[in-house]
Amino acid sequence: MASTTNTSSMKMKILCLTLCSLVLFCSAFTSKDYSEALEKSILFFEGQRSGKLPSNQRASWRGNSGLSDGSSYHVDLVGGYYDAGDNVKFGLPMAFTTTLLAWSVIEFGSSMHDQLGNAKAAVKWSTDYLLKAATATPDTLYVQVANPNTDHSCWERPEDMDTPRNVYKVSAQNPGSEVAAETAAALAAASIVFKESDPSYSTKLLHTAMKVFDFADRHRGSYSDSLSSVVCPFYCSYSGYNDELLWGASWIHRASENSSYLAYIQSNGHILGADNDDYSFSWDDKRAGTKVLLSKSFLEKNAEGFQIYKAHSDNYICSLIPGTSSFQAQYTPGGLLYKGSSSNLQYVTSTAFLLLAYANYLSSSGGAATCGGSKVTAENLITQAKKQVDYILGDNPAKMSYMVGFGEKYPQHIHHRGSSVPSIHAHPGRIACNDGFQYLNSGSPNPNVLVGAIVGGPDSGDKFADDRNNYQQFEPATYINAPFVGALAFLVGNPTTK
Ligand SMILES: *[C@@H]1O[C@H](CO)[C@@H](O)[C@H](O)[C@H]1NC(C)=O
Repeated sequence: MASTTNTSSMKMKILCLTLCSLVLFCSAFTSKDYSEALEKSILFFEGQRSGKLPSNQRASWRGNSGLSDGSSYHVDLVGGYYDAGDNVKFGLPMAFTTTLLAWSVIEFGSSMHDQLGNAKAAVKWSTDYLLKAATATPDTLYVQVANPNTDHSCWERPEDMDTPRNVYKVSAQNPGSEVAAETAAALAAASIVFKESDPSYSTKLLHTAMKVFDFADRHRGSYSDSLSSVVCPFYCSYSGYNDELLWGASWIHRASENSSYLAYIQSNGHILGADNDDYSFSWDDKRAGTKVLLSKSFLEKNAEGFQIYKAHSDNYICSLIPGTSSFQAQYTPGGLLYKGSSSNLQYVTSTAFLLLAYANYLSSSGGAATCGGSKVTAENLITQAKKQVDYILGDNPAKMSYMVGFGEKYPQHIHHRGSSVPSIHAHPGRIACNDGFQYLNSGSPNPNVLVGAIVGGPDSGDKFADDRNNYQQFEPATYINAPFVGALAFLVGNPTTK
């Protein structure tokens, strides 16, 4: 008995060692897996579309919605995206989503292959709307359709929506520099995406970006003051608007190479937060992203006064890399970056993207990040980012993919009205406000699979409850997916990086 046990435990050991060394050299996922995830991550945006759907709409369970948005205010605000599991069009997260989708295409579009067209369509669905929202600039920018308090009191498909579609705007008297500057960033980043394929659209985007930025900068103030009851606590600007002003100027500078914006960054950078370290890149706080974006100008062109952005990007990167002197991030036992209990994966996807974008800039300039006495290479950053992506796709203790429709086990009860209520095509009769709650509270899986949606994610102990009422963990959002599109595209081209 004893010797048999020894032999089998020996065999087991050899097997394990072989497996472990295999794991070191191969990836949990292949390029084909990343391609599939990339396609799905973009397809998700079709499920979030508001407005009149085109004939090539692939998320076929959806129908037209919000077709008279803006009409009672004599403005055409049809289109754009619902931010998450409700039917509100919130300007700040929509613009941020767009900026990051565009950045994904700018940085990693060359690895998107047959998905490049879909990614650009996802950007354009939003920029067509943002251009409409900006038609009244220089005096006004429309920043939201629907009051979330009334919208949330129903559980309705977008196609049935009958709650008031109030329109909210910012103006010289009631400014909103964060939402306006983020809109400017989105338009400017998108102008780069369409520069070659649609030059006149690109020019229109860039000119509108400049106009909207000028409005944001000249009339400074936060939309959380005048629109508090409908933007807070949902998308309250907790970090203020300085970060968006610097971010917006940086994107216009990148898109236009116009020296006015370079001068703006050089003279206002310190006032607008260039000197602060911040480690949460999100729809609210743009500081870490701005530093990475501007460090490109330093690394590749040695732009005067931009060294500080490289230094702060290094601080940001070092905070994420275990073992360096300035390491301070929190990871779950299973290795997931953990920032907070609500929609944690938004920080994971945005961080993975920044790690990869920064790795790109470092590689193209032969540089490295400096963490105290040690150097962190582009390869180190890629390893770190890949771990986070792989965790989301299913390489985690729960063996669960947090992307809907990807892998064998994925969230079935996501907190999303359209996905959880029967499709308008399967059930054409109206399902009124209160009649929808039976679907919220039902134990059955969502009837419409919102393919590609990444949900809020597991808790600090890698645990989750697949429960539709658990919006912190099981609600998707456009800004969780947007930076993931870029990260996945990178991995399609570089699947076996360790
Ligand atoms: C550069 O930007 C400024 C400010 O928006 C604008 O007035 C100027 O016309 C732009 N210059 C060029 C060459 O586009």
